[in-house]
Amino acid sequence: MKRVYIETYGCQMNVADTEVVLGVLKAHDYEQTESPEDADTILVNTCAVRDNAEQRVIGRVGELQRYKRPGNVLGVIGCMAQRLGPRLLAAVKQVDVVLGPDAYRNLPNLLENAARGERAIDTGFRSWEHYEDVVALRERGPTAFVTVQRGCDYRCTFCIVPMTRGPERSQKLEDIVTKIEDLAREGTTEITLLGQTVNAYHDGVHDFADLLRAVGAVDGIRRVRFTSPYPNNFTERAVAAMAETPAVCDHVHLPVQSGSNAVLRRMLRRYTREQYLAVMDRLRLAIPGITFSTDIIVGFPGETESQFGETLTLVEDAGFDDAYTFKYSPREATPAVRLQGQVPEAVATERLARLIATVRSQTRRRNVGRLGSLHEVLVERPAKRGDQMLGRTRSNLMVLLELPSSSVGTYHQVRLTGTTGSTFVGRIESPSLAVI
Ligand code: SAH
Ligand code: F3S
Repeated sequence: MKRVYIETYGCQMNVADTEVVLGVLKAHDYEQTESPEDADTILVNTCAVRDNAEQRVIGRVGELQRYKRPGNVLGVIGCMAQRLGPRLLAAVKQVDVVLGPDAYRNLPNLLENAARGERAIDTGFRSWEHYEDVVALRERGPTAFVTVQRGCDYRCTFCIVPMTRGPERSQKLEDIVTKIEDLAREGTTEITLLGQTVNAYHDGVHDFADLLRAVGAVDGIRRVRFTSPYPNNFTERAVAAMAETPAVCDHVHLPVQSGSNAVLRRMLRRYTREQYLAVMDRLRLAIPGITFSTDIIVGFPGETESQFGETLTLVEDAGFDDAYTFKYSPREATPAVRLQGQVPEAVATERLARLIATVRSQTRRRNVGRLGSLHEVLVERPAKRGDQMLGRTRSNLMVLLELPSSSVGTYHQVRLTGTTGSTFVGRIESPSLAVI
């Protein structure tokens, strides 16, 4: 057996890709190790979405190369590998293998060559690739990510993803359902469907609405989530499927990016602030109690103080319950780097701080208002501190519970009794049936 150590950076799709990579390698006699000292193959699965993500990886590769003994292999895979390709091989002498997200089937092959001293690169796009036959190697647990769509055909002007993940394609509904049936048999009860514009899912026959209904109908699946949808792609069929499929959760992560129509236009987002809010209204009408989180970028080229102000007012108008906030990071070869009016770093930093403060105080206010309410909570894992367990409501609120670690995977009716502002503590009113 060869031993592989892998670190994962970036989004949930990268987490799912790492499970695929481990599945590919397992079929070629590799086993996973938790420490780089023990490994003969070290892999870093990377993100390219912002420069600071890339800098972290570069630092980490520098550290990991110390564990490399003669004959061992260090590989960089994922979006940053795809973006830099041969430049990465040239810049870091210790790196033997550079592989993009569509090339993981080729990994065993290239690792073998690398062990013989041949450095190699594969950044080819394969627009048919879904890894549908690969048995992903994941930790058994109540929740699982399932990639249903790869690549992206949108062209948001700030975004590197279409260049690193290639053309959009949807996996066949039947293959997805088979995979989820297997997961359900092993005790998974919550599925998160992944895609860059996941609600644009279409496999040629079935659309996103069909997918939600099919996944929600799998025996044993009690919760279905998805991320990330694109505002324009919520068809009436999709909204109806969400409302009529009991397993679909009451939370949507809906990236907005900005509250200013002028900025949205320069970003080539295909909606206005008003259209975005109208989508939220439709979803709220169809799914009472639904919560929303979002992604927001500040300091996009040309963003004026008053345009940034529109983002602040949108946070309130939209009633987000959470927001992932980012400073615009110029990505090489994306259209936005050529736009006039790049915003000075200090201005962006100051706007980000104001945005975070606005989001935090709103989240706190909304969460305080939820005290006393009753929710179904799925226990996911031990909390970082203390001997409590961390669970999640259908509406995506995190709740700390006094439960033993054997409670992972169980569902409970929980009364929210306290909040830090972001997470809750809760009291169990009645356990519902244990599933795992
Ligand atoms: N379609 C994907 C987006 C992937 S990138 C999805 O919705 O999941 C995830 C988030 O990173 C984006 O929503 C955006 O807010 C942020 N992001 C992307 N490119 C960025 C850049 N160049 N600078 C700052 N933030 C960026
Ligand atoms: Fe990126 Fe826009 Fe696609 S944010 S992943 S180009 S929808």
